[in-house]
Amino acid sequence: MSNYHIKHLEEYYQVYRKSIRYPEVFWEEVAEEHFVWRKRWDKVLSWDFTKPEVKWFEGAKLNITENCIDRHLRIRGEKTAILFEPNNPEEDTQHITYQQLYERVNKFANVLKSQGIKKGDRVCIYLPMIPELAISLLACARIGAIHSVVFAGFSATALATRINDADCKMVITSDGSYRGSKTIDLKGIVDEGVAQCPCVETVLVAKRIHSEINMKEGRDQWLQPLLDAASNECEPEIMDAEDPLFILYTSGSTGKPKGMVHSTAGYMIYTAYTFKNVFNYRENDVYWCTADIGWITGHSYIVYGPLANGATTVMFEGVPNYPDFGRFWEIVEKHKINQFYTAPTAIRALAKENLDYVEKYDLSSLKVLGSVGEPINEEAWHWYNDNVGKKKSPIVDTWWQTETGGMMISPIPYATPTKPTYATLPLPGVQLALMDEHGNEITGNQVDGRLCIKFPWPAMARTIWGNHERYRETYFSAFKNMYFTGDGALRDEVGYYRITGRVDDVIIVSGHNLGTAPIEDAINEHQAVAESAIVGFPHDVKGSALYGFVILKETGESRKHENLRKEINQIITEHIGPIAKLDKIQFTVGLPKTRSGKIMRRILRKIACNETDNLGDISTLLNPDVVQSIIDGSLVKK
Ligand code: WTA
Repeated sequence: MSNYHIKHLEEYYQVYRKSIRYPEVFWEEVAEEHFVWRKRWDKVLSWDFTKPEVKWFEGAKLNITENCIDRHLRIRGEKTAILFEPNNPEEDTQHITYQQLYERVNKFANVLKSQGIKKGDRVCIYLPMIPELAISLLACARIGAIHSVVFAGFSATALATRINDADCKMVITSDGSYRGSKTIDLKGIVDEGVAQCPCVETVLVAKRIHSEINMKEGRDQWLQPLLDAASNECEPEIMDAEDPLFILYTSGSTGKPKGMVHSTAGYMIYTAYTFKNVFNYRENDVYWCTADIGWITGHSYIVYGPLANGATTVMFEGVPNYPDFGRFWEIVEKHKINQFYTAPTAIRALAKENLDYVEKYDLSSLKVLGSVGEPINEEAWHWYNDNVGKKKSPIVDTWWQTETGGMMISPIPYATPTKPTYATLPLPGVQLALMDEHGNEITGNQVDGRLCIKFPWPAMARTIWGNHERYRETYFSAFKNMYFTGDGALRDEVGYYRITGRVDDVIIVSGHNLGTAPIEDAINEHQAVAESAIVGFPHDVKGSALYGFVILKETGESRKHENLRKEINQIITEHIGPIAKLDKIQFTVGLPKTRSGKIMRRILRKIACNETDNLGDISTLLNPDVVQSIIDGSLVKK
């Protein structure tokens, strides 16, 4: 895909205008270049946002792994596809070539088949960042099974909910995982979770930490002996363009996570195209995205996008502060990383540490720096630009979502002048709109509103697994004929976009989306709790942290409150995972409510942010008195 690079701003505008005027011609040209199709499409696009129904490249047949692996073998067989950097820097790096990846994926695919997995079956993957994780995704795709990766930081309950929602027949996990100086008993979590999942027939277990674990007779199988016995040739299953490739869960405003379903062909060409352009990827570059494959960033920009381009993609098992805060930069030097993609929360955490950690290493290989997952604040942006990029590597602040499948707003490096805190301009094919609360589009510049997308793009999620109506309701009902992102944004005088944050009940903590409802549901399970409400408040490393207002059934003595706080966080850890723990818990006598009984989070948010002098009109509340009690921290009813 060598001729895809956009080289200057004028060219970006030309490409962009073409992509908007002739979207089908534009994406067809992308699809025609270099990809392997077993059958050509009959139609590029059909769509109807009212249903909503979107189909790209209908009639086409393909297998994404042929595009990510097989087609590179002739010219890139000996090139490193996956470069695995272990948690412990003393352990050897692994270079997995395209030829080796081919063999490992095929063997794994044959193992899946031998265990009865067929096209369309769902397979849950709960693995740490080891090569088997990427390989298991590709093995599923090879045989047309739908993978559903669950981030290995989620609790047993959260895992079980996701397994049951997708009705997974198999779970792939490991004996445990390394995380800095700690080990985590992943298999124990799986055992606890799967006990609640009658649909699971098989659990495949990779060995990583060599710990003593229980293997359940008739259900659990060690992966390695099965791989050893498997053939390294597995014919790819030929898929329809619109066949689902994977499910990935994201939090929503209500309790149940949403299983976003991504399709095959559109997702493939979109992630490949955006990877190539947004990272200015050139043959022989070494690219590193620090995300976990448990999130969409890892799916699209560790596995599918890079491999579709024949790139070398780094998988890092560890954490930024082990053995010390220089680890990221040590890896950049060691592997001469050219493109580095991380999250603002990591940048902020590293920026707090001594600059020596950065300055000790040679970072001169870097050409492009990326940011994703949450708004990047100005200070973090400058720290990244000055100390990591040495003001020479453009920062691509990429805005997108699990639902969008790929990047939507981002500078094109060396073409779009960057501006701190601005994701800048829509990528080709992306038609944005800012909407006001009455459902009208806000035109012109220097305006702000709710961020929507007017026209389909190839990588958009097609539905929510098992609940198309929820998909319609969540994304296509707020504004007519528009996809609503849930984010607010402003457009500056030159048309650059800045994302201002979520406008719904999702809070982004350290780049992880957390819905308030599931956390509140967990807290309310505590026998001492009557009701609770969660809001976000600014945090200098996490971006936002969680603040819980909790009404106890009995107020009790304050010395008991510390214990209660611990127990509440314990319950949250069990139900969701440690990422959802609350930083602050305030016990209160009541929660501000509207007359229809809805909690007024706007007011709680202001209290959590210490902005109590402009609470707005509270006279319409059902219980205006409660507001002052909360501000005073009083536990006595007025
Ligand atoms: C937020 C992650 C500002 C946004 C790929 C979005 C961002 C949500 C940015 C999706 C960015 C992501 N600037 N905000 N560059 N990137 N977000 O589904 O609120 O984990 O709606 O996908 O993260 O998070 P998700």
